[in-house]
Amino acid sequence: MSIVITGANGKLGRLIIEHLLTIVPADQIFACVRHTQSCEYWKKQGITVRLCDYDQPETLEQAFANASQLLLISSSHPDDTIRLRQHAHVIEAAKKAKVEHILYTSFAFCDKGTIPRTYLHLATEHAIRTTGIPYTFLRSGLYMDFIGMFGLNDAIVKGELSVYPGDWQFNSITRLDLAFAIVAVLTESGHQNKIYELTASHTWTFQDLAETLSELAGKPISLQQDPDIQNWIYGFLSKIDTTSTSDQLEQLLGHPITPLQESIKAFIS
Ligand SMILES: NC(=O)c1ccc[n+]([C@@H]2O[C@H](COP(=O)([O-])OP(=O)(O)OC[C@H]3O[C@@H](n4cnc5c(N)ncnc54)[C@H](OP(=O)(O)O)[C@@H]3O)[C@@H](O)[C@H]2O)c1
Repeated sequence: MSIVITGANGKLGRLIIEHLLTIVPADQIFACVRHTQSCEYWKKQGITVRLCDYDQPETLEQAFANASQLLLISSSHPDDTIRLRQHAHVIEAAKKAKVEHILYTSFAFCDKGTIPRTYLHLATEHAIRTTGIPYTFLRSGLYMDFIGMFGLNDAIVKGELSVYPGDWQFNSITRLDLAFAIVAVLTESGHQNKIYELTASHTWTFQDLAETLSELAGKPISLQQDPDIQNWIYGFLSKIDTTSTSDQLEQLLGHPITPLQESIKAFIS
């Protein structure tokens, strides 16, 4: 078995490989990266490092050679039109390299969103289906990182969490839970031609966040709705589906996801 992983030097890729190493021998793992010189850590562990640049199609077929499974971690380029082209390069190369199974980190409930990002993920899923290669779409919920946009440290100092008015609910997840679920899919059978919505099984609200912050800070933190708040994140959040939930992430993990209180600790100091 050979598991080939793109974006191996990224935050998600690293977590996946670290966990994968506890389950499969290092010589079955192939880390695909843009800068091979920055991979001494992987090489020391016995992992093969391969050059892979989505913008250089000539690097890709070789990078994906003999892959039983290719995990395409979606590009981090900010322009979704360019990302689509990058993903198309990867998919074409996977077909030429006769990859046996493609797994793709898509976006949760992307069929319900109305922004370029959701179209990008749907388009990539469709492009993968055109190859006829067995696939698994790992539709990831919003990473918990966005919580850093709400000024949690200020809220603790002021005793007040200010947010834009609305009925906000979030199905967000931690990268670590996502990484563990992806490793389960990579190392167990029965996941071909499946789509997983990897979100929280229950949403949380800003009221939940204020209460959780209060517990962590050991002092009351009230929730205030402020219509004058200017922050692009609210526009973004209103155009994606942050409320639909699924228990598929928990099923793959075999246990509940990381609780909100634990998840937000990384975003307060
Ligand atoms: N669900 C969410 O809320 C959410 C949030 C943010 C991102 N995402 C998506 O999830 C992906 C993984 O997240 P992450 O936290 O691991 O992101 P990350 O740390 O930014 O990692 C992205 C990886 O993609 C690689 N990459 C970018 N352009 C590439 C190219 N042209 N060719 C080859 N590799 C390329 C990067 O390579 P280098 O190491 O060389 O830079 C990096 O390893 C992101 O790329 C993004 O598509 C999802």
